[in-house]
Amino acid sequence: MQKRRVLVATGGGDCPGLNAVIRAVVKRFNQEEDWEVIGSMEAFNGMLRDPMEVMLLDDAAVSGIHIRGGTILKTTNKGGPLAWPVMNEDGTWRTEDRVDDMIDRLKKLGVEAVISIGGEGSMDIANKLQLRGINMVGVPKTIDNDLSATDVTFGFQTAVEIACEAVDRLVTTASSHNRLMILEVMGRHAGWIALASAIAGGADVALIPEIPYSIQGVSRKVKSQMEKEGYAIVVIAEGAKARDGEAFSKSSDEVGYQNVLYGGVGHQLNEQIKQHVDVDTRVMILGHLQRGGTPCAFDRILSTQFGVKAAEMVLDKQFGMMAALVNQKVIAVPLEDAITEYNFVKQDSELVHAARGANMCLGDSNFKA
Ligand code: F6P
Repeated sequence: MQKRRVLVATGGGDCPGLNAVIRAVVKRFNQEEDWEVIGSMEAFNGMLRDPMEVMLLDDAAVSGIHIRGGTILKTTNKGGPLAWPVMNEDGTWRTEDRVDDMIDRLKKLGVEAVISIGGEGSMDIANKLQLRGINMVGVPKTIDNDLSATDVTFGFQTAVEIACEAVDRLVTTASSHNRLMILEVMGRHAGWIALASAIAGGADVALIPEIPYSIQGVSRKVKSQMEKEGYAIVVIAEGAKARDGEAFSKSSDEVGYQNVLYGGVGHQLNEQIKQHVDVDTRVMILGHLQRGGTPCAFDRILSTQFGVKAAEMVLDKQFGMMAALVNQKVIAVPLEDAITEYNFVKQDSELVHAARGANMCLGDSNFKA
């Protein structure tokens, strides 16, 4: 007898903990006799291809994957049912809406609900698919922690651990050479990784997209730190910008269709600081190291909680909702609440308070070194 089916997909950038969510969804559904889980490869692109690229997710398929980084279902931030890329005869691209086709294919597969594990873009797509009649449940992932309606996303904690280790390692080489080390970490809209790793590693300066920095303020802090201790550490988020400056990014036109690429603001900052302080500097861009590898215990636990919750939301028919951690409770929140606004670092947040209290420069012009 054909079992009832739920489809799982992972979308957007990969993130430590994706596999742990997939495993938890499967483990929870395997306790229901009449249900089984299938996965679509590369977000929803797999199920929209001919032949369809979908796989049965049974116990064997998910055994031991909770400790593995990446996603066994692969992922992408291109394509999808709302904007399927089709090449025109002249080599240019257009996009087509394939939601109706997706609905037909889900019916053929016997799928009653879809669990989408992803970031802001994926939750936005999930919300739109829900409005078009597909039973959707979301699970929030992103190392950037920039999704609203949940206290934290899985993947963030692992990224902070990696960035913190990078700060620790840069401290010993910086102090040996009397240098300023600039560490650039991910975070295009929100500076959570930069701020958290700077506090954990005891950096002197943390620059985040939410607080445009004054180069005079940063330089003053670097200068005084070099005089006091002989070395200095600056952590900067990839989306940080100087006052009246643009965030440092390559436009989508330069990189082909879709996503804007970030990376390189650390070098720009280096040039700016050198105009004010005579100091030997090195720049380190941590990049995708923050996204790869095994999730830390916290993220494995959170991913398992989210996976179990998402499965139970399907069983309870709580569609159009996303699993979230709110005040230590795993609850269901409307998908819409997650995407209306980025989870920015607020000026009055506890982390900003702690950073300022520890005399860290956050790029303010009036910083007294
Ligand atoms: O959204 C998460 C993120 O890690 C951003 O901080 C970063 O800019 C982006 O992904 C890079 O993604 P990719 O290189 O996979 O396009």
